[in-house]
Amino acid sequence: MNYEKLMKRAISLADQYKYTAKPNPVVGCIIIKDDKIISEGAHEKFGCNHAEVNAINSAKTKVGKSFESFGELTLICSLEPCNHSGKTGPCTEAIIKSGIKNVVIGALDPNPLVSGKGIESLKKNGISVTINVCSELVKEQNKFFFFKNTYGRPFITAKIASSIDGKSHIVGSKQTWITSKKSREDVQKLRASKDVILTGGNTVVNDNPMMNARVDFLTNQPKKILLSTKTNLNFDAPFFKDADYEIIKERDLDKVVSRFKNTDVTSILVEAGPKLINSFLNEGYVDKLIVYESTSKLGPNGVNWFKEDNAVEKLGFKLESSYKIESDTKKIYIK
Ligand SMILES: NC(=O)c1ccc[n+]([C@@H]2O[C@H](COP(=O)([O-])OP(=O)(O)OC[C@H]3O[C@@H](n4cnc5c(N)ncnc54)[C@H](OP(=O)(O)O)[C@@H]3O)[C@@H](O)[C@H]2O)c1
Repeated sequence: MNYEKLMKRAISLADQYKYTAKPNPVVGCIIIKDDKIISEGAHEKFGCNHAEVNAINSAKTKVGKSFESFGELTLICSLEPCNHSGKTGPCTEAIIKSGIKNVVIGALDPNPLVSGKGIESLKKNGISVTINVCSELVKEQNKFFFFKNTYGRPFITAKIASSIDGKSHIVGSKQTWITSKKSREDVQKLRASKDVILTGGNTVVNDNPMMNARVDFLTNQPKKILLSTKTNLNFDAPFFKDADYEIIKERDLDKVVSRFKNTDVTSILVEAGPKLINSFLNEGYVDKLIVYESTSKLGPNGVNWFKEDNAVEKLGFKLESSYKIESDTKKIYIK
């Protein structure tokens, strides 16, 4: 049987929950009898049921109606079922207990400690397993999760707003608005897609930002991390008002980044001024750079983002895409 079409359906099912499942990967599951869909499930919310369990529970309500026994069914799941107890029980156990005898998997779990273990456990229990169906799509969909498990650190995106003359802000000023309302709305969505937003002490003091994701859909708010050695921070400021925040006094970025190794965090958005952004760039800790460029100039009182021309290209970045948001241009650079 060609499972690709059904796997793609499981992948799109999973996609609906990318803002509420994070920092977990999104996973979709479909249970079929022959070519008929019996039930569907997804990992909808961090800490809640996994996709396989939701699909199995939904199928249980149809025994004796759409099918007689679970042995007649095939379970199609975008990511390898887990074989360990986390916030919920192992999915392999739920599959084995259900009596399903045929499982189709999109991609193997990238964590070397668990990869292949779920499959092994299913096979040991007499279940036939097919793997790597649309695995590249699953990896792309869960890019941050695969990155973290491959490189041992979160995927880091740096975002900057720049005037057409390459400036960040007016010297000595409080907040400088550079880009349009539409671009700033786009940034809210970008924030919602990340597990952490990280910034520096001067930005929090000068700009007085909230740095949360103000979006009109459900999202797990990113944790806010402030890198600062300041001792006179105003904790009544909006930055400290909501969600989870942490202040890290460390300046060594190797140490800052390695703190995330054994955490759930798979993605970080760095939103800061030229000093901190350049530190991240120069230390090789930026995987993607997003520039929102306006058509206006800040002129001689503006602070340059970079010391030299083509600094981004010299650091090995290439332009991946560039498009207009009203009069601004959003440029995305990758390595
Ligand atoms: N256009 C934009 O997209 C944008 C975005 C954000 C901010 N800004 C502007 O940028 C200005 C501030 O820029 P900035 O670069 O001076 O401040 P920043 O964004 O606060 O970054 C520098 C601060 O980060 C902390 N830091 C910790 N480790 C560091 C490291 N390894 N390298 C560099 N900094 C480290 C230090 O905080 P402590 O000194 O507290 O220890 C340092 O002063 C603001 O006035 C704001 O208007 C512009």
